[in-house]
Amino acid sequence: MTSIPVFLTADKHHILIVGANAAAMAKLGLFSATPARLSIIAPGAADAVKASGLAAEDTGHTGLNVHDRPFTEDDLTGKTLVYIATDDRFTEERALRLATARGLPVNVVDQPTKSTFTTPAQFTRGPLHVAFSSGGAAPVFVRRLRSSLEKILPPSLGTVAQAAGAARARVKALIPDATRRRLFWDRLYDNAGRYADLDADDVERLIVDAARTHRVGATSGQVQLVGAGPGDPDLLTIKAHRALQQADVIVYDNLVSRDVLALARRDADLIFVGKREGDHGIGQNGINDLITERALRGDRVVRLKGGDPLLFARAGEELKALRDRDVHVEVIPGISAFQGIAATTQIPLTDREYSNSLTLVTGHVKDGAYKDWARLAGEGRTLAVYMGVRNAGLISAGLTAEGVPASTPVAVVENGTRATERRFYGTLGDLAALVQENSVKSPALLLIGDVVRNAAELNLAEREALAATA
Ligand SMILES: C[S@@+](CC[C@H](N)C(=O)[O-])C[C@H]1O[C@@H](n2cnc3c(N)ncnc32)[C@H](O)[C@@H]1O
Repeated sequence: MTSIPVFLTADKHHILIVGANAAAMAKLGLFSATPARLSIIAPGAADAVKASGLAAEDTGHTGLNVHDRPFTEDDLTGKTLVYIATDDRFTEERALRLATARGLPVNVVDQPTKSTFTTPAQFTRGPLHVAFSSGGAAPVFVRRLRSSLEKILPPSLGTVAQAAGAARARVKALIPDATRRRLFWDRLYDNAGRYADLDADDVERLIVDAARTHRVGATSGQVQLVGAGPGDPDLLTIKAHRALQQADVIVYDNLVSRDVLALARRDADLIFVGKREGDHGIGQNGINDLITERALRGDRVVRLKGGDPLLFARAGEELKALRDRDVHVEVIPGISAFQGIAATTQIPLTDREYSNSLTLVTGHVKDGAYKDWARLAGEGRTLAVYMGVRNAGLISAGLTAEGVPASTPVAVVENGTRATERRFYGTLGDLAALVQENSVKSPALLLIGDVVRNAAELNLAEREALAATA
């Protein structure tokens, strides 16, 4: 360990900033949020401070002194910390030499070898102050670490913590049972993101209202139905990511990509409940029982589902089973396959010229049921078919028999948004052949409608260009 982390008590310090460049303003901005006394000294400092919106009248900081003149040795008197952020090499060397001679801690911005201390990457959430350092060795890594932690801890957490403190006594009176009260607070912090943009007084009022009407489940356990998105882990919501990091148990099936599972808490129980060749799994009733039982044992259960958990995902049955046993349940949405695929193929699902409606439908229906699909597809409409690969021939025959032109463009996208994504373009008339000849496997989505035309033409042009260079 080459550095010593300490937190300085801001109101006992007087910080000197020598310089008025952008780095100096960044430091001034950082410390203006503290009660430390601040002095900034450099020719042009007054204008720079004003232009950055950091003047005392803008920030309300009462301990700020701005000296619009060159640095002198006397400026060091009474200071406890020195930052040097100037483009003037002579002033930099002089201020560094004089501050060091007085034994003052000094930081030359972005020059750790000249400095006696560094300022860590940091963020705050109310009373919580998180700081990171790699001793200057890996600043990019440190910044990434900070941003991933910032995502887990929503900015509103600080306000919620403050409001919770003010509401504590009233919540205690409204929810006298200690266990139920703890659950109430737990869930409040889980959902701190909802209070973004509100001030502490409003949050306090909402907390008391919630305590008045609150109803927590029978146990400390809970189930979150979480959308895992179509495969690319970067498409997870921040809330889903947080749920994965906090879960005791994660119950998942075939559609959930390995990259998404890799984001789970390391010691969570990962339980696969999908079907595999020759193994039908535990079935829907088995899943309902499993998630209910684990929650009733007090676990935080994430029921992770591909795409969005409320689309073609039998969520209704799971929600009912959980409610029947009085288990607290929350739904965290995900990017559905049609959205992920629209993005990777750059197919606008509606278009002023081609389509003013979008229908999502399952292709998993009994033979002949495609008869009334003509009202779903055709001119001016876009149809996205989930689970339609096996019945591609029936779908194509059913739609064309009902009058949808065989020339209607279609896209078949397998493993959408994953590194293994494959796309095929054709027409409704040759849909079955397109699926068969390319051995398209599940998961794949069929997009049918004129909106596909441009993407298909683009794809053709790309392929022709590739063939020409081969
Ligand atoms: C049981 S449904 C689940 C849908 C999911 N809840 C959603 O919102 O995307 C499974 C079907 O979703 C579609 N699907 C899901 N992920 C996909 C992906 N990455 N690429 C293509 N299709 C996908 C396929 O049609 C698959 O057969």
